[in-house]
Amino acid sequence: MTRPGELGDVLISEAEIRAMIRRIADEISNDYAGREVLLVGVLKGAFMFMADLVRELKVASQVDFMAVSSYGKETKSSGVVRILKDLDEDITGRHVIIVEDIIDSGLTWSKLRELLLTRGPASLALCAAFDKPSRRKVANLKVDYTGLEIPDAFIVGYGLDYQGFYRDLPDVRTLRLEAEN
Ligand code: PRP
Repeated sequence: MTRPGELGDVLISEAEIRAMIRRIADEISNDYAGREVLLVGVLKGAFMFMADLVRELKVASQVDFMAVSSYGKETKSSGVVRILKDLDEDITGRHVIIVEDIIDSGLTWSKLRELLLTRGPASLALCAAFDKPSRRKVANLKVDYTGLEIPDAFIVGYGLDYQGFYRDLPDVRTLRLEAEN
């Protein structure tokens, strides 16, 4: 059984990812010094980044997870994020940091942000391992902690998948699909 597509070059190495995580963890640790943070991973892609990031933080942290529908990958939809798995934690009065693997159009985050703000967090920030600003459909979207900006290529690895595969890769690579051969 083979995986779909053909792996291409390493776009972001393990060493680059490690350095990126240390940098972001330092920024968060400085910004939230003396406070507790609740990291919220957005499943599934964020699981690996979340696990690495939390181990580098110097501030007290707790974790929770959400799963939302990937409507952002469809064309103009209802504009409502469908929650597949909601938070276990009450975020009222807490410092919440959403942890994403990638920000693309920005639609998922803009809708999720609206929803979470109605729950009264003390603060709400976005941290993303990778960002494709060239794909943005939401104006003025602020990513508070950005790992690495990447070009608009089809990439997999470090949590990012194609048809559910390749999330396990420790680095980020381009993927060529059969149709392009
Ligand atoms: C990815 C990513 C974000 C969203 C970003 O999730 O984890 O949640 O897409 O895209 P956007 O900025 O265009 O909204 P995906 O839907 O691929 O689900 P997965 O994490 O389970 O792979």
